[in-house]
Amino acid sequence: MLESTSKTFNGPDGPMRIAFSEATVEQRVQCAKLAAAPFGSPLSEAEYLERDEFLGQQLLAHNNGWRCWCLFRVDSPNQIFATCKTLRRDFVVRDANGARKQPGFCLSSVVTDSRYRRQGLASLLLTRLAEWLDGPGNATDMSSLCERDVANTMAKFEKLEVGSNETHIAVVPTEEIISWLHGRAAFTCAKIYGQAPQSHGRLCESADVWLYWFHDFRKRQLAVQRVGGNIEKSGLQKRAAAKLLLDALEEASRFNLPKVVVWDPSHGLESAMDILEQGFSVEVKTEERIGRSIPSVRWKCSNEPEDTVLQLNEFYAWS
Ligand SMILES: CC(C)(COP(=O)(O)OP(=O)(O)OC[C@H]1O[C@@H](n2cnc3c(N)ncnc32)[C@H](O)[C@@H]1OP(=O)(O)O)[C@@H](O)C(=O)NCCC(=O)NCCS
Repeated sequence: MLESTSKTFNGPDGPMRIAFSEATVEQRVQCAKLAAAPFGSPLSEAEYLERDEFLGQQLLAHNNGWRCWCLFRVDSPNQIFATCKTLRRDFVVRDANGARKQPGFCLSSVVTDSRYRRQGLASLLLTRLAEWLDGPGNATDMSSLCERDVANTMAKFEKLEVGSNETHIAVVPTEEIISWLHGRAAFTCAKIYGQAPQSHGRLCESADVWLYWFHDFRKRQLAVQRVGGNIEKSGLQKRAAAKLLLDALEEASRFNLPKVVVWDPSHGLESAMDILEQGFSVEVKTEERIGRSIPSVRWKCSNEPEDTVLQLNEFYAWS
């Protein structure tokens, strides 16, 4: 994640630039040291750090389920002023629209360095974190996003207009098929860099748009696997999709992958790409690919390919 805009903090030692970000590996250690004093007992600081490592292996912590955030000094990033953690939680929500399961977070281990307390740092940390939680975030809750996507796909297929001889098909965008390519990237990346990618996509819940990506180390690209939600509806959704594509570019550059590739972009996604081209000087190229970039599929009685229309020709269906 990019660090948020820095701001000047007038501490006891004079003004300094501070910024909010998810903690890096080195910062995590400093954050744990800060938290060990108020929360470590009965463990020693070293044991508390060891427990953090251990908890990081638990099921709930997988796929960014347990994350550490911090306010740090810009010119000395391992100096941490305040830190906290988020743990993924599912909520059951009931309002006038009915009951539903919705992903959320618990905030824990909020701590400010004792030398800098009562100066608004914990408040600033939690404000910045709330902006992150409410805005685009990592698309970590794959099960419920994929469930929503499958339900949307089925609903769209029900309404699809088809000619009398036509058959329309789509590969159902299930969690299993999306995460298959994540497993493949994790294996290859661990071999090359010694560590699997931590991020598999981004979500803007308030705009009902998300996307998943695949680190394609062979073709040296980040492929957008699937764009979920509905970006055809409003300008807000197109702008949110543009932000998610910027995040994809950032993820690609993190792994030295020079491009982001999208198959068969919808009109809404093309508008998002226009926003990137015009507003952010991102080079956008569109090309028609005949006989390539299409998965080979077979299903029972699929003998009349000329009357068959493959819908959702997005990268997730490829393997
Ligand atoms: C609690 C803690 C994180 C606050 O950090 P901070 O940077 O000093 O907090 P802020 O300056 O942003 O103040 C945030 C609010 O908490 C209040 N507050 C801060 N420290 C307080 C204290 N010791 N007693 C009572 N209120 C306190 C402030 O008045 C402020 O409230 P306001 O917005 O209504 O004025 C810090 O004291 C700390 O690290 N404590 C030890 C760890 C801990 O107990 N964490 C909380 C449980 S997870």
